[in-house]
Amino acid sequence: MRFVTFFFSGTGNTWWAVREFTEIASTNGHDAEMCSIENDQIKDFSILSELLEKSDAIGFAYPIYGANLPPIMREFITKVKRISENLNKLRQKYCFIITTIGYVNGYGPYKIKKILRSIGLKLKAHINLRLTNNVSTPGLKINPIPHKKLVKRKKKSIKKLDKFYGKIIKNKKRIRGIGPWLVPGMLIRRITAPKMNLNYQRLSINLDTCNNCEICINNCPTNSIIRIDNKITFKEGCTGCYRCYNFCPTHSILYKGKFADPLVYHRYHGPIDNLNLNNIKQ
Ligand SMILES: Cc1cc2nc3c(=O)[nH]c(=O)nc-3n(C[C@H](O)[C@H](O)[C@H](O)COP(=O)(O)O)c2cc1C
Repeated sequence: MRFVTFFFSGTGNTWWAVREFTEIASTNGHDAEMCSIENDQIKDFSILSELLEKSDAIGFAYPIYGANLPPIMREFITKVKRISENLNKLRQKYCFIITTIGYVNGYGPYKIKKILRSIGLKLKAHINLRLTNNVSTPGLKINPIPHKKLVKRKKKSIKKLDKFYGKIIKNKKRIRGIGPWLVPGMLIRRITAPKMNLNYQRLSINLDTCNNCEICINNCPTNSIIRIDNKITFKEGCTGCYRCYNFCPTHSILYKGKFADPLVYHRYHGPIDNLNLNNIKQ
């Protein structure tokens, strides 16, 4: 069986989950590939078409933002829609979703099922992994969980992924996460959806402490951080991943103009030690 999983990961959790899943499939003798939707090659329509066409199982993986899809993933799926009309037998492929969360999914398989149906894919399996929240700001102080707890959640997630893989190769259906717990998601979405696209307005840079390393500019998945005349500006299109905020080595990214003390608002540096940002973009 040939697997491909298209993923977006702001701070590494989803990347880690997809990496584990891909490893499980590979060690069981399958051809398994993981592709970041930030990867330039994927932006090429012919390469994307080829990948979709040659794979038997097609996955999409993303973190839940405000009980919703990250805008960047929604745009990617729209792109697949544009090419899907020319692809053969997409509906016969095994389609799966991997999501990661800190607390509550609230999005579930329902909505994504509909979106996928519109591009000719039939969702057959969905898994949601609880790892850790990745953003703590003066707007919402919810620090990432301690390392020890994350290690436990990672172990549990690997077990879940293993079972998930088992269902896929047996061509079985696995749709979970439908229930009353999706109701709070509707409320969260209502509150956060209009604000998601305005994330860029909340962020700015303290040029007095910035060391000009440009980690933020070079790693923004939507190229929404730009330098104009020695000023760094956040512009529309930001997907709200908070990669810039978490990985700024001098903690110079301001939230609503305020310094967020890292001792109070812990920055999240990913699920593994020394996470390489280049890896999560491949
Ligand atoms: C803008 C934003 C909104 C988020 N909203 C939710 C949410 O609604 N529910 C939740 O459980 N976690 C939420 N999170 C946490 C992430 O879903 C979670 O940390 C995820 O595993 C991060 O994945 P990544 O490291 O691959 O980016 C949010 C994170 C961000 C940055």
